[in-house]
Amino acid sequence: MDDLAAVSIDVVFPPEARAAALRDEVRVGLTAVPKELQPKWFYDDRGSALFDQITRLPEYYLTRAERAILSTRADEIAALTKADTLVELGSGTSEKTRILLDALMPERFVAFDVSADTLCASAQALATHYPRLAVAGVVGDFEQHLTALPRGRRRLLAFLGSTIGNLPPPTRAMFLRDVAAVLAGDESFLLGVDLVKDPARLAAAYNDEAGVSAEFNRNVLHVLNRELEADFDARAFAHVAEWDPHEEWVVMSLRSLRRQSVRLDALDLSVAFADGELMRTEISAKFRRESITAELAAAGLRVRRWWEDAAGDYAVLVASPSGSR
Ligand code: SAH
Ligand code: AVI
Repeated sequence: MDDLAAVSIDVVFPPEARAAALRDEVRVGLTAVPKELQPKWFYDDRGSALFDQITRLPEYYLTRAERAILSTRADEIAALTKADTLVELGSGTSEKTRILLDALMPERFVAFDVSADTLCASAQALATHYPRLAVAGVVGDFEQHLTALPRGRRRLLAFLGSTIGNLPPPTRAMFLRDVAAVLAGDESFLLGVDLVKDPARLAAAYNDEAGVSAEFNRNVLHVLNRELEADFDARAFAHVAEWDPHEEWVVMSLRSLRRQSVRLDALDLSVAFADGELMRTEISAKFRRESITAELAAAGLRVRRWWEDAAGDYAVLVASPSGSR
């Protein structure tokens, strides 16, 4: 243990509060019509590892496209933002973050994620790799706890991977307003967004041949079994991911393969599923330049730079609070 680099971890979403939120959200979601679960509960250790596998799948172009943009634009991002603190929301394994750290060479890095174990492991790995960097972690829910972010002299708040697409529009609007509210005039927001494209490629990215997306989707049932003493039979649910051209999002669901009843002892709740019933587990919205620029503007954020990868699949943007510089 002696050779572990020092990392400070602030837990603003302690296990009891997290457990209470899980109970409340699952009760609401499973008693709603249609049923739904929130994607933030995918990410236990296994879920985070499965997502990491997804990022390496041939069909899942998002991570590679974002990495390509960051690699070519990191110096420009550093020159534009002049950040001395990098804060990453939904940091996960913080793999692509190294590209930014190498260019920015900030004094401080703060990883923020709801998944405590993944956060601690990746913060530790970064502290070991960058011994002169002050590394901190915040275990929190970015839908509620952005005010808990540590202050810095000039922060760059990064939200990568198009995770913003997993927030439904009203939540997304609130989230962006929170971002604008916590940023000082000389601070910046770095956002990665997946763009609207050929539906066949979108469908393939969320229905990979190896079946990793399906396992990732079903993982939420294992989380509920363990954390809410539930008895979901994960094999009795099929993975479904479909492009909705009207909403311009991929909707991921679990389809009950038979009529069945599931018991969640921790909620004292029994839930009936009809044969073929769909339960929504995630949306993954895809963006257009004009629409995300307008959403950011409505929240008080002005887009300063917009970069796309060569194929036009994906974009990374830098925004600042409106009225600044
Ligand atoms: N940024 C990484 C990981 C994306 S996966 C990348 O670009 O590859 C999404 C990450 O967001 C996971 O690590 C998950 O634990 C985290 N996450 C999901 N919902 C969250 C929430 N409400 N608050 C904080 N973190 C959340
Ligand atoms: C984390 N998030 C941006 C991923 C996405 O593409 O929406 C999660 C994911 N769901 C299925 N595959 C990947």
